[in-house]
Amino acid sequence: MKYNIKTGLLMIGLAVLGMAGCSNSSDSGKAAAKATSVPTSASATPQIKPEVVMYKPPTCDCCTGWAEHLRQDGFTVVINKREDMEAIKTKFGVTKKLASCHTAIVDGYVIEGHVPAADVDRLLKERPDIVGLTAPGMPMKSPGMQAVGLQPQGYTVLAFDKDGNTTVFHRY
Ligand code: CU
Ligand code: CU
Repeated sequence: MKYNIKTGLLMIGLAVLGMAGCSNSSDSGKAAAKATSVPTSASATPQIKPEVVMYKPPTCDCCTGWAEHLRQDGFTVVINKREDMEAIKTKFGVTKKLASCHTAIVDGYVIEGHVPAADVDRLLKERPDIVGLTAPGMPMKSPGMQAVGLQPQGYTVLAFDKDGNTTVFHRY
């Protein structure tokens, strides 16, 4: 059943991406899967990364773990502890279905939950016309949720738009 759902999501994702006219989207899932272990080329891209502003519940630790994961990838992360996370998620277009613990903003994009830094890098490089990325819920094998250095596994990072429509950005 799991596989059917995932295949369905992928197909919907590819269809929507195709309709959106994203230039290099048709193979994006596969390309990203292959690219996980390839170091970022330093030749053309500037190494200064934009600041990540993260909102998190006051007592949640996995959020801090995710922030640390991003810092290790070269991002500066500003952490805001907030009681009104629901209001923040509503403000940034994160529906209940898409929600995780923390909500972050980077260079105009929303990053919800335990999205690996590699996907944030790819997002900022490709700059698709979306609101942001989300890893809904609390995937157990994700940065911030598992030991530092382990690979993300067993969940899907989704891209979402203003209407809450989602497409598969990266399957782990
Ligand atoms: Cu979390
Ligand atoms: Cu958390």
